[in-house]
Amino acid sequence: MKIASFNRSTSFSRRSLGTTSPRVTRLSWISRIFHVLVVMVSLISFTIAIGCGYIYVLPSLSQAFYGDGTSKFNDSFRSCNVFDGSWVPNDSYPLYNATECPFVEQGFDCLGNGRTDKDYLRWRWKPKTSDIPRFNVRSTLEKLRSKRVVFVGDSMSRTQWESLICLLMTGVEDKKSVSEVNGNKITKRIRFLGVRFSSFNFTIEFFRSVFLVEQGSMPRHAPKRVKSTLKLDKLDNISNHWVNSDVLIFNTGQWWVPGKLFESGCYFQVGNSLKLGMPISTAFKTAIDTWASWVQKNINTNRTHVFFRTFEPSHWSDQTRRFCNVTQHPLSEARGRDRSLFSDTVLEVVKNMTVPVTVLDITSMSALRSDAHVGNWSDIPLTPDCSHWCLPGVPDMWNEIVLSYLLSNYDEWTDMDLLTPVLC
Ligand SMILES: *[C@@H]1O[C@H](CO)[C@@H](O)[C@H](O)[C@H]1NC(C)=O
Ligand SMILES: *[C@@H]1O[C@H](CO)[C@@H](O)[C@H](O)[C@H]1NC(C)=O
Ligand SMILES: *[C@@H]1O[C@H](CO)[C@@H](O)[C@H](O)[C@H]1NC(C)=O
Ligand SMILES: *[C@@H]1O[C@H](CO)[C@@H](O)[C@H](O)[C@H]1NC(C)=O
Ligand SMILES: *[C@@H]1O[C@H](CO)[C@@H](O)[C@H](O)[C@H]1NC(C)=O
Ligand SMILES: *[C@@H]1O[C@H](CO)[C@@H](O)[C@H](O)[C@H]1NC(C)=O
Ligand SMILES: *[C@@H]1O[C@H](CO)[C@@H](O)[C@H](O)[C@H]1NC(C)=O
Ligand SMILES: *[C@@H]1O[C@H](CO)[C@@H](O)[C@H](O)[C@H]1NC(C)=O
Ligand SMILES: *[C@@H]1O[C@H](CO)[C@@H](O)[C@H](O)[C@H]1NC(C)=O
Repeated sequence: MKIASFNRSTSFSRRSLGTTSPRVTRLSWISRIFHVLVVMVSLISFTIAIGCGYIYVLPSLSQAFYGDGTSKFNDSFRSCNVFDGSWVPNDSYPLYNATECPFVEQGFDCLGNGRTDKDYLRWRWKPKTSDIPRFNVRSTLEKLRSKRVVFVGDSMSRTQWESLICLLMTGVEDKKSVSEVNGNKITKRIRFLGVRFSSFNFTIEFFRSVFLVEQGSMPRHAPKRVKSTLKLDKLDNISNHWVNSDVLIFNTGQWWVPGKLFESGCYFQVGNSLKLGMPISTAFKTAIDTWASWVQKNINTNRTHVFFRTFEPSHWSDQTRRFCNVTQHPLSEARGRDRSLFSDTVLEVVKNMTVPVTVLDITSMSALRSDAHVGNWSDIPLTPDCSHWCLPGVPDMWNEIVLSYLLSNYDEWTDMDLLTPVLC
């Protein structure tokens, strides 16, 4: 069971161990190794005592210690579950001011829309057996230089895209050097948005593809109620734009509901045949299988780090989604929202894939955050929203987790002189 801890002592500071990533010159390299050795030795008993420690070693050093490199450090970040933990209060949050970030759409700027309680802004995710490295905007901007980060999915992906841009903009002095490549404004149905950080030569892009698979017009000879179909065996026809990226982050789920499908005349199709009676769960699995084959066939995972973010729980008070009671603090238990068939399907499919894909299994951590939704502080005040999240807020933490994977566990992204956090 996950507990949102209100006890500050549980989140004891690890500042003394250092959470930054200092650049080390070659001259000081040797002494750095020595220093790290000393730190390591002094930490080993500590590590054993608490079962799972938090130490920093050079990648080469871990090889020296464990021989062939297929040690327990090989995939340490993944082997310890960062998604099992609790929310702890932290006054260094929030990390940016949404009103000052031109890429937060008004609907997500809760403070700007009149929310007055602020506790919801000050929670940090604390994995049980590790710690997410402190967000360092300068080193992140440098790491992303000349790269292409692509988000694909529904409005939850758009929120995460906005969050990442705002996190990164806090480190950019000339805010005008950051702009949408086509000069477009953020709107709910736009297919593509790309924000370029020109001083760093990288883009953070968003492709709206709410089902990931292709939605087509009504097939011939179909019953009258069929207005469109989802072609479960074909990825979205804009998918060719997702290929040459360095980071590729998918999501889908919110649209796989009767209201957005059957009740709007959208039915499933596989090949040339309509699947009128196919349950949504089966269709979803088929679509995710299609996505998995597409990734295996089209993505060079030597270059592209692929992520799939799992389902984002909502916190409506009733089935009809009319009542939304945003709380002031996180829940202490998820009350069943910590599991989702969609998330389980993604986890299962990815397990079978032949190329590396990281599942951002954020469902249960987000399930506790009934305090972090837009509620009635959106741009349409009379329509409460217990699905989307305020910015700053929970999507920032999703991004911090993405960045921790990229910056600590991905060889091509890691200079020899960068200290690599070893988390378990
Ligand atoms: C990582 O190390 C574990 C042993 O701790 C081993 O079982 C696993 O196969 C290794 N994984 C890779 C990718 O080398
Ligand atoms: C965010 O920025 C706006 C505009 O500069 C300012 O009015 C507001 O007080 C700031 N909000 C917070 C929480 O600092
Ligand atoms: C608060 O978060 C920062 C990272 O942003 C971390 O370094 C620090 O240890 C945290 N403080 C507490 C009290 O948890
Ligand atoms: C900018 O990034 C692209 C790759 O996205 C790269 O081909 C190009 O050389 C970079 N330009 C500069 C000036 O670094
Ligand atoms: C992709 O599909 C959309 C409908 O979803 C259609 O409007 C568009 O023309 C298609 N584009 C291409 C390149 O086939
Ligand atoms: C990826 O890297 C591996 C090992 O370095 C290599 O064998 C493989 O051909 C590469 N794949 C592609 C598509 O470049
Ligand atoms: C809303 O949540 C609070 C607890 O945060 C609870 O006391 C209150 O009864 C709830 N209101 C409704 C209408 O569910
Ligand atoms: C994974 O692969 C096995 C063997 O090919 C298959 O039996 C199983 O159904 C697959 N699981 C999923 C979730 O696709
Ligand atoms: C928003 O919701 C809160 C509690 O649910 C309520 O007290 C407040 O009056 C609402 N604000 C608006 C503008 O409807």
